Amino acid sequence: MGNTIFQAQGVVKNFGPIKAVDDVSFVVKKPEMLGIIGRSGAGKSTLLRVINRLTDATSGAITYGDQELLKLRGSDKRAWQARCAMIFQQFNLVPRMDVVSNVLFGTLNARSTFASLLNLFPRSDINRAIDILERLGVAENCTKRAEALSGGQQQRVAIARALMQNPEIILADEPIASLDPLNAKIVMESLRRIHDEDGRLVICNLHTLDTARAFCDRIIGMRDGKIVFDGSASDLSASVARDVYGADQEFSEAATSTSIETLETVNRAVLKTV
Ligand SMILES: Nc1ncnc2c1ncn2[C@@H]1O[C@H](COP(=O)(O)OP(=O)(O)O)[C@@H](O)[C@H]1O
Ligand SMILES: [Mg+2]
Repeated sequence: MGNTIFQAQGVVKNFGPIKAVDDVSFVVKKPEMLGIIGRSGAGKSTLLRVINRLTDATSGAITYGDQELLKLRGSDKRAWQARCAMIFQQFNLVPRMDVVSNVLFGTLNARSTFASLLNLFPRSDINRAIDILERLGVAENCTKRAEALSGGQQQRVAIARALMQNPEIILADEPIASLDPLNAKIVMESLRRIHDEDGRLVICNLHTLDTARAFCDRIIGMRDGKIVFDGSASDLSASVARDVYGADQEFSEAATSTSIETLETVNRAVLKTV
């Protein structure tokens, strides 16, 4: 079901002798939210960086619509990067700058350097930034410095900054890896809503299996640069997971978990206190 909108074929990225991404092929069909799981060093971040063109692939092809992404150069490459926003584990906000300015910086690649240097943001952009912050539930913090916010709030600001560039694709690289379970859930729910309500394609690297199961429609498992699983969340059995995370390791679902059970417990506790 669905249309293929994104297709990677034989993508390779070597760093010297290291095969960070090793002959990776997959398709993404609308409207799937895609999760990429695997241990640290499996090649998840490198794959996202190749897609966003932050790094050049050694070989292979990625098509999106009628565009061959790995061949884009100069202004075409920058135009692609504007359509394809990234979110990082460490948020990458400017800590001492206020929240709304951080979000407005998401419009930078559409504006002149001169206007940006003078911090001249049109009123319409400021209003839009506040609307997006409102949608993510962090608008009341918009005049605070980014560094004054909790990790979960900062990640929502980073998502707002990404939305400000009105991207078609959002690539999230372990967006919840530094968050506590409750904030992790809020951030994943925000990404899921953006995927569902806006029709943007969300591709999300996740360290943990249960988060991928809970929020993604389709999961790719990577190990040593290769895809070792590609299927629906419901197909991801314990034995498949053992393969993804390494048979040498004593596999326990809890060890790869942000613990949704913990989340449910926290949620119930929160509900009781309201
Ligand atoms: N810039 C780099 N230079 C050299 N090796 C790198 C670089 N980036 C990643 N690697 C290596 O590529 C492999 C995949 O890394 P990465 O994509 O960061 O994995 P993951 O995100 O799944 O943890 C690792 O062996 C890592 O050490
Ligand atoms: Mg990584």
